[in-house]
Amino acid sequence: MKVTVYNCREFDEKELFLKYEKELDIELVLCPDAPNKENAFLAEGSQCIDIITSPMPKELLELFASYGVKYVVTRTIGYDHVDVEAAKELGMTVANAPYGPNGVADYTVMLILMTIRKMKSIVNRTRIQDYTLKGLMGRELKDLTVGVIGTGRIGRTVLNNLSGFGCRLIAYDVYENEEVKKSGITYVTLDEMWERADLITLHAPLTEDNHHMIDEEAISKMKDGAMIINTARGGLIDSQALIRGIESGKIGGAGLDVVENEFGQYYYDHKEDILNNRELSVLRGFPNVTVSHHMAFYTDDCVETVVRDSLLGCKCFMEGKDNPWEVK
Ligand code: NAI
Repeated sequence: MKVTVYNCREFDEKELFLKYEKELDIELVLCPDAPNKENAFLAEGSQCIDIITSPMPKELLELFASYGVKYVVTRTIGYDHVDVEAAKELGMTVANAPYGPNGVADYTVMLILMTIRKMKSIVNRTRIQDYTLKGLMGRELKDLTVGVIGTGRIGRTVLNNLSGFGCRLIAYDVYENEEVKKSGITYVTLDEMWERADLITLHAPLTEDNHHMIDEEAISKMKDGAMIINTARGGLIDSQALIRGIESGKIGGAGLDVVENEFGQYYYDHKEDILNNRELSVLRGFPNVTVSHHMAFYTDDCVETVVRDSLLGCKCFMEGKDNPWEVK
């Protein structure tokens, strides 16, 4: 029973992989790099490969299939980076490894508070001993309407976390959740969301239907000074439209754990590089935009859960057992 693990991080995941290799009696091949044409041969003899957010297009899947790979598990919740249809055509099974929603939900609340209290500017000023107040007045959550888009596991935990702050909560989802409705939270249409929310936080997966759901038109319908938090996927927001919104003052602030085209940049040290992502550079430069490098998930609990469950899924697959992590 052999699994080839790509993007295995030396400083935190490796020890866990070695622990579960023993516990689950699986032979592992650990590769620190993202899967590509050059290192695909490492999967020869493995039925399963274990990846993170690196793109897995049809051509690469075909190559892995030619080495006998039948199961691709991503150590993430989102799987928009894998061409699931192509995998199905090749007879491959795709799976993910969701972890508890609390890590991302806590992080979201942190970004919300940082954004409404202008924390980026506060930290920047204290770093240079500028202890002035002008321009740093914040707002209080009790006075705000917060809109949550996507009321799945993370969105619902965010709603729960926010319930103690006294803000008005509204929600949007393509499928309304009974538990959310019972708690007295109103579902609204997207147009109502744009009109009513002082702050919008995104918790929907990226699909073909909702790519750039926050675009020029959506922003134009928002309240003046509306704030946006994104811990879901960069492609949900048209970055150019967001930049224009910030420049005009229409958007009052943002907290972005994810941005468009982040792959290849996030998780690497690019101190000395000229980056090929103008949107990221511009957004990062705004005093009212907090950018972090796709790390809302990064807690001790989440990392151990993904390593363990990604391998448990491989074991289920290889033993022909029911696999709760399979993407249907
Ligand atoms: P989930 O599957 O439990 O919930 C997603 C919800 O979004 C569902 O209720 C679904 O009906 C809804 N939805 C689907 N399409 C929609 C649309 N067009 N508009 C509005 N709602 C829509 O997923 P979960 O666990 O809550 O994760 C949400 C997303 O968070 C993931 O898909 C992933 O992209 C992102 N994520 C980001 C992380 C980070 O580190 N920044 C870590 C983990 C997840």
